[in-house]
Amino acid sequence: MKIKSAEFVMSNTNVAKCPKEPIPEYAFIGRSNVGKSSLINMLTDRKSLAKTSGRPGKTQLINHFKINENWFLVDLPGYGYAKVSKRDKNIFQKYITNYFQQREQLVCSFILIDIRHEPQKVDMEFMEWMGENGIPFVIIFTKADKLKPKAIERSANAYVDQMLQGMWAEAPQFFITSSSKTIGKEEVLGYISTINNNFFEATKKKG
Ligand code: GTP
Ligand code: MG
Repeated sequence: MKIKSAEFVMSNTNVAKCPKEPIPEYAFIGRSNVGKSSLINMLTDRKSLAKTSGRPGKTQLINHFKINENWFLVDLPGYGYAKVSKRDKNIFQKYITNYFQQREQLVCSFILIDIRHEPQKVDMEFMEWMGENGIPFVIIFTKADKLKPKAIERSANAYVDQMLQGMWAEAPQFFITSSSKTIGKEEVLGYISTINNNFFEATKKKG
């Protein structure tokens, strides 16, 4: 899929105030600093569409970007950021959980995981919460430029094994990416394109 346009639409903390257009939407979620904002820039070929930082906790709001005039990418704050106070954490969690539970346009979420790390409890718990709430997601491993192919495979397999030992009956779908080396771009965009096509076909049939 070719990205012809990518524009920032709005930021907020209230799902009820998010854009109203009934077009497909994809959210990027994961631990702070995992590379959510960088991935949005890599996929859209824009250097600073989404704001990135070496320090965790950069993205603080629900940020909507409209792509090719007919679908949304959503950049979200990270979870598991220890420096945020407990009170802020609760508020953060509430508006994020509201977003996931109430956003009707959300067709798929991408849960980002740093490929260098062992399976983390916070990621496992978040995926379980998504599963329990019936919110579809796929995994995107980030920062693949930091590991050799064998280690990438080992790390991805460790996550899949851990999930199969838990509540999951099937292995999750996943993508391997690097924003700094532009790895996985066509795969992720191709996946989005397929879902978009199905979405617009179904809408056409409904009339
Ligand atoms: P928060 O908004 O704080 O939750 O972080 P985020 O998940 O949006 O991460 P962000 O995109 O801001 O990137 C965090 C850091 O990781 C930055 O220093 C990026 O340059 C770096 N980074 C992101 N993607 C990659 C990647 O694919 N490879 C490498 N080596 N570094 C990356
Ligand atoms: Mg960010």
